[in-house]
Amino acid sequence: MKAKKSLEIANLIKDETFDMDPEEIRQIGYQSVDLMVDYFKNICKGPILTNKTFKQIKKLIIEPLPTNEQSPASIISECQKKIIDNSVKIGHPRLLGWIVASGTVIGTFADAIASAINQNVALSRVAMATSIELLVIEWIKEILDYDSNAAGILLSGGSMANFTALAVARNSKADYNVKTQGMNQISKNMILYVSEQVHMCIPKAANILGIGTNNIRNVKVDQDYRLDIKDLKAKIIKDQNHHRYPFAVVATAGTVNTGAIDPLNDIADICQDYNLWLHVDAAYGGFASLSKNVKKLLKGLNRANSIALDPHKWLFIPYEAGCVLVKNPTDMLDTFFMHADYLHVKTTESISNGYLDLSDYSLQLSRQFRALKIWMSLKQYGTLKYERVINQNIHLAQYLEALVEESPDFQVITPANLSIICFRYIPKDLKQKYQRMYHNKQKQINKYVNQLNQAIIEKIVKDSQILLSSTVLNGIFVLRVCVVNYRTTKQDIKDILMIVREIGQITDKKLRKKF
Ligand SMILES: Cc1ncc(COP(=O)(O)O)c(C=O)c1O
Repeated sequence: MKAKKSLEIANLIKDETFDMDPEEIRQIGYQSVDLMVDYFKNICKGPILTNKTFKQIKKLIIEPLPTNEQSPASIISECQKKIIDNSVKIGHPRLLGWIVASGTVIGTFADAIASAINQNVALSRVAMATSIELLVIEWIKEILDYDSNAAGILLSGGSMANFTALAVARNSKADYNVKTQGMNQISKNMILYVSEQVHMCIPKAANILGIGTNNIRNVKVDQDYRLDIKDLKAKIIKDQNHHRYPFAVVATAGTVNTGAIDPLNDIADICQDYNLWLHVDAAYGGFASLSKNVKKLLKGLNRANSIALDPHKWLFIPYEAGCVLVKNPTDMLDTFFMHADYLHVKTTESISNGYLDLSDYSLQLSRQFRALKIWMSLKQYGTLKYERVINQNIHLAQYLEALVEESPDFQVITPANLSIICFRYIPKDLKQKYQRMYHNKQKQINKYVNQLNQAIIEKIVKDSQILLSSTVLNGIFVLRVCVVNYRTTKQDIKDILMIVREIGQITDKKLRKKF
């Protein structure tokens, strides 16, 4: 008699599983926790970057696709030796380049817990994780004094938050239905206004959203690198007169180069007068609202139609954590909602309880439980401790500015704005000459000092005892310090200046001969 098909198939099933018994799990946990504790214990020591080249790093880890099993203990040891020991020491007190924050310790463990329970925060049926995210969004709105009815969602970072906000701005402001017609029905070019200092993720988003980088107007900045209101207005009027369609302004609360805060209230007035969408990129400066001193500088932020934020900056949340807020939830829903029978199973209970599927508010469907690390960090420290740490970061930048100002061989290029300061090393004799010269005669010295500071930053990165970044402002190559770090101390700031001076003196001796 022929064997039953079900029996044949049943014989193929050998009860394979990835599951582990509790004791094995505990061992992975202990070993991983030891590794993390060691990492945090030694975070202030040693070079910040690995001394290996990218090529050497790639060579160190190259191996064939694993086919056989390996013990977790040996994998974690390998991780420690190869990966941890060659990773960038983010969180090192002297890592003050870019806007890279030290992450909270509790956030680290929150990520592990979130992965253990592996919630997919897409649908309201994942009720607890969705509710925690909604609570965190409520807290963020409260920090910013933003409209309590606004909608929001957590995303990977500032770039995705800006992209999401601009998608909503485009769909809401278009004079036809972009959702159904795409950008094909456009009769007038939709024009977006940004400052010359805008973060590059904005033109990136404009490209992907079909707005096109040619339809971005780079508004001039004033001497403090803040968006110039007069130029904004002039550009809007010019575009209107040419039958184009001005639709949105991006203002920045804390620019990436100098930490400048655009005049948000004035920009909000213009947006109101010309019926434009106001989006504020507050990825860096937004959470400085936790400081009462800074909050005054952010006046007008709460008038924005949308705001992009980065909890992985000044909330000190481990990567990745971004957030977008949109004042009118319907705008967000209209942009992102797409019905799918396999998802939108509306039960009587879900409708009557006002359940909310967060996947209807962004491009992502599956999303990790990012809210847990924000919830835990805010609970551990509370807003008062956050305020003290953010103020301390700002004071450290001001302290560096004062030290630079008092030095005969340094020059402040932009003063401390929030916690960013731009300066340069300029040998004492050249500084004296520079100060006596007229502006047009300073060019020659600038050319050399640019070259000198470029060489200094290369040496800084190579030595890796401190890590600053650099940028170019009005043709001047500057060293840039950004303090978003709860470990940095006054001594670190003093030492940084001393190290830059030492490197500057040696480099100047080598380079000056050729000048
Ligand atoms: C002002 C500003 N906007 C946007 C971004 C991009 O944020 P993310 O790196 O989280 O995508 C940054 C990053 O530093 C920033 O400073």
